[in-house]
Amino acid sequence: MKKSIKTIDLVREFQVKAGKGKESRIIRALDGVNLEVEEGELFGLLGPNGAGKTTLIKILVTLLYPTSGQAFVDGLDVTRDVLPIRQRINMVSGGEYSGYGILTVKETLWMFSQFYGIPYRVAFERINELLEVVGLKSEANTRVSRLSTGMRQKMNFCRGFVTDPKILFLDEPTLGLDVEAARDIRAYVKTWMDKHPERTILLTTHYMAEADELCDRVAIIDHGKILACDTPQALKKKVSGGSIMEISLGVLDDFTWLKGKPGVKGLTSSPSIEKNRTTLKLVLESEEFVPGMISELNQRQIPILGMQSVEPTLEDVFLTLVGRGLSDENSSSA
Ligand SMILES: Nc1ncnc2c1ncn2[C@@H]1O[C@H](COP(=O)(O)OP(=O)(O)O)[C@@H](O)[C@H]1O
Ligand SMILES: [Mg+2]
Repeated sequence: MKKSIKTIDLVREFQVKAGKGKESRIIRALDGVNLEVEEGELFGLLGPNGAGKTTLIKILVTLLYPTSGQAFVDGLDVTRDVLPIRQRINMVSGGEYSGYGILTVKETLWMFSQFYGIPYRVAFERINELLEVVGLKSEANTRVSRLSTGMRQKMNFCRGFVTDPKILFLDEPTLGLDVEAARDIRAYVKTWMDKHPERTILLTTHYMAEADELCDRVAIIDHGKILACDTPQALKKKVSGGSIMEISLGVLDDFTWLKGKPGVKGLTSSPSIEKNRTTLKLVLESEEFVPGMISELNQRQIPILGMQSVEPTLEDVFLTLVGRGLSDENSSSA
């Protein structure tokens, strides 16, 4: 199989100044990444904020040099073959502000299509189709400066597809979009891949459901390292040896102390102020540890409102590998 993307021991460091008079410090955003994406794959990079996803994408799209290691896109070296790589790819980042405010949505998409030499008629057909998909047809003649953040994001999504790239990089394409728009975008990504089996997409996300729903294979990344890489099914199967419990507790409290208890592989706690309760998700080594957990909570007189065993999700895969949740607040600094 032909490799669309390949990285070898890829490292990227940033030097950050801690402040006046203070010594600068090195952040290792990518810490030896080895990745292979086959032609035709819809490949997901799943990790919390700060994991290194955008840094990896920026290197692959030739916007950033690696500190060491190698990266290839369509067999071409990102440090040497900049132009031929750029001709083959496109990229969409959630939250970016590309385009010129004085142009309309249609003009912007048209302009980008012409940068890539897309024939007149083809470009117009694609633009119309894409605007329909993301529900932006009514804004086709609106100036970009007048668009809301969500609308801009939808326009950028269209910009990524309008050039019909061989390899497409989608960096958090549904970030901040409402549920329906995100669903339409995901559906389009899937259809596009079905229609063009020789295309490749590398998508990053910190929404586990998105990776699970869309991707043929997923790499889980944290602190610049790939922790696991497989199909969503296979990843979930790996954690199903243990036991995943969801426990609802009638208090609002911090339950991080449970992390040190025997058998606990991972824990997230989600407090709900309205309901005055905390829901714990516990990944245990096996079911044998459940009674011990209950007596711990009973001893502390914490009311248990409900408890159930749940099927593993990709979030649980992450929880098992890292010990904390994908969307936990301290995820990037922990
Ligand atoms: N230009 C930069 N200068 C300094 N640090 C950076 C820069 N870009 C990224 N980083 C740091 O590198 C790490 C990875 O960031 P990023 O690749 O943006 O993660 P993600 O996209 O997964 O949220 C973070 O710790 C971030 O603060
Ligand atoms: Mg990012």
